[in-house]
Amino acid sequence: MHEDARSEVPLRENYTMEDMSYLDSAQAYPLFEKQARLIKEKGYRGIIDVGCRHGPINKILHDDLDYKDYSYFGFDTSDEPIDIATETWKNHPNINYKVMSWIETFNVDFKVDVIIFSGVLLYIKDVLLREDLFEDIMFRNRCTNAIIAEPYHHQRHWDERLILQSITENGLDFLNENYTVDHHYLDLPVFAGKRVIYDVSARP
Ligand SMILES: C[S@@+](CC[C@H](N)C(=O)[O-])C[C@H]1O[C@@H](n2cnc3c(N)ncnc32)[C@H](O)[C@@H]1O
Repeated sequence: MHEDARSEVPLRENYTMEDMSYLDSAQAYPLFEKQARLIKEKGYRGIIDVGCRHGPINKILHDDLDYKDYSYFGFDTSDEPIDIATETWKNHPNINYKVMSWIETFNVDFKVDVIIFSGVLLYIKDVLLREDLFEDIMFRNRCTNAIIAEPYHHQRHWDERLILQSITENGLDFLNENYTVDHHYLDLPVFAGKRVIYDVSARP
C-alpha cells in the first residue's frame, strides 16, 4: 500500500471498556504482569498510574502476586473504565481512581514511589512537551521512579492502513540525562510486535 494512503492510529481521550478490550485479553496480560512484577520486586508501596484505564495492575498485584500492602491512585479521562474500577475497588480504601486529565494538578496523601506511564507518553507529539509533562508529574509528586510502557518502534499495526505511533526510537532520550533506564522487551502477538517497558530510576 502507498504510504500516503495510510493514517495514524487515532489517540482519543474517552474510550469505553469495549474499545480497549484487547488490552484485557490473555495475550496482553504479560504487558501488565511485567509492570506488576517490577513493582513487587522493588517493593514500591506508593503508586500513581497516569492514563490508567481501569488499572488492571491492581488485580494482578492482589490476586496473582499476593502483593496488597500499597497505596494506588489511578486517573484517566475515560469515564467508563474509571467508574468500573471505582466500583470494583470500593472496599479498598488505599486504591482510588478519578476521572481527570494529566494537565490538571493533583495531590495524593501517600509517599509516591513510582509513577506508571503505560501507553500514554506517545500522546504528546512534541518531545519537549513530553519531557515537561513527565518531569512535572514526577517533580510535583517528589517521585524518583517510573515505569513507562510503549509500542516499540519496529511494531506495525495489524491494519496496514494504520500507522502505529511510537516514541521509542529517540522520543524518550531525555530520560538518559537524569535517570538510569532498564529496557524490557515483550514480544506479544496481540500487538503485532514488541512492546517495551522502561524501568526508570533517578541517578543518585
Ligand atoms: C493507549 S491507552 C493506555 C491505557 C493503559 N495505561 C494501558 O496501558 O493499558 C491511553 C489512555 O490514556 C487516556 N488519556 C488520554 N488522554 C488523557 C489525558 N489528557 N489525561 C489522562 N488520561 C488520558 C485514555 O483515555 C486511555 O485510557
